[in-house]
Amino acid sequence: MKALVLSGGSGTRLRPITHTLAKQLVPVGNKPVLFYGLEAIAAAGVTETGIVVGDTRAQIEAAVGDGSRFGLDVTYVWQREPLGLAHAVKTARDFLGDDDFVLYLGDNVVLDGITDFVERFRECRPAAQILLARVDDPRQFGVAQVAADGRVTGLQEKPRHPRSDLAVVGVYLFSAAVHKAVAEIEPSARGELEITDAIQWLIDHDLRTDAGVMTGYWKDTGNVPDMLEVNRLVLRSLEPSTAGLVLDSEISGQVVVGPGARVTGSSIVGPAVIGAGTTVTNSRIGPSTSIAEDCRIADSWIRDSIVMPRASITGVRPLESSLIGQDVEIARTPGPSGAHRLVLGDRSQVRVAS
Ligand code: G1P
Repeated sequence: MKALVLSGGSGTRLRPITHTLAKQLVPVGNKPVLFYGLEAIAAAGVTETGIVVGDTRAQIEAAVGDGSRFGLDVTYVWQREPLGLAHAVKTARDFLGDDDFVLYLGDNVVLDGITDFVERFRECRPAAQILLARVDDPRQFGVAQVAADGRVTGLQEKPRHPRSDLAVVGVYLFSAAVHKAVAEIEPSARGELEITDAIQWLIDHDLRTDAGVMTGYWKDTGNVPDMLEVNRLVLRSLEPSTAGLVLDSEISGQVVVGPGARVTGSSIVGPAVIGAGTTVTNSRIGPSTSIAEDCRIADSWIRDSIVMPRASITGVRPLESSLIGQDVEIARTPGPSGAHRLVLGDRSQVRVAS
């Protein structure tokens, strides 16, 4: 079995962060979202992995390399234009050959991994197997109808009137039968070759498509609240450790202080992670906060937030529910004016307290 991980797309709902960073590389718990998926694939015993990349391919390749760090053997497949998930499968046809494969959308996080799901496919060998999760609002997902024996009887892509509350999770298992389906379907109203349509084609041609309903945590990380939610969850499973230096500070709960970090006169409330080489001075950090590598935090309070590498935050309190990009600088206005002074990139979002 092979894996095909989709890591293209423009990440419009995460701008301005995605003006300069692939959405799959936004860190949660100081680790890119994409890496959770790669780890899940390796844990399921799959090694040969194709990563479909688009405009951000250089960044993805720089971050993942040859995959050996994950125990994977990675091949990159370039999709010139984001023409849909089924189009990505078509683009990767040479890499996939006639092997079974797991298709994994690189912005999806499945906390319990995919090992059981992959094993079930290996045992039952249907033409396709999809993973479903019950959601409150299925309209933003693919939606499945499932018979009592676990077979999928119908699918709808982002329906206005969903026929069930079972959303299609971005992890799919396919036999080589899917290539015929992908070749036969037409682009959807949004101009994309939809994987949902390819699976519907299999169902319509009596090729068995099974479904498993997951009970664990799943998130399709499209926007800032999603990223913060996943951050909160992954931080909870961190093993506390202190590699850096902690002076005159209080540390409580699950806290990781990375190597070369320096925490002085501060209070860190877990779950929280302080990245390697970061300095935290006279500040309160946490809970549910990830501060990446080489940041400088002074005289600030930060909770429920993600701060990306090399950001500098001075005299800001409190700061919460924030996603702060790489090399961002936030500081108090000097002098008595008390006014906010902002230099913001296109599509930045700022909420001020006064
Ligand atoms: C895609 C699929 C959708 C699925 C979702 C899961 O949607 O088309 O069926 O439910 O992934 O993440 P997209 O995120 O590309 O809009």
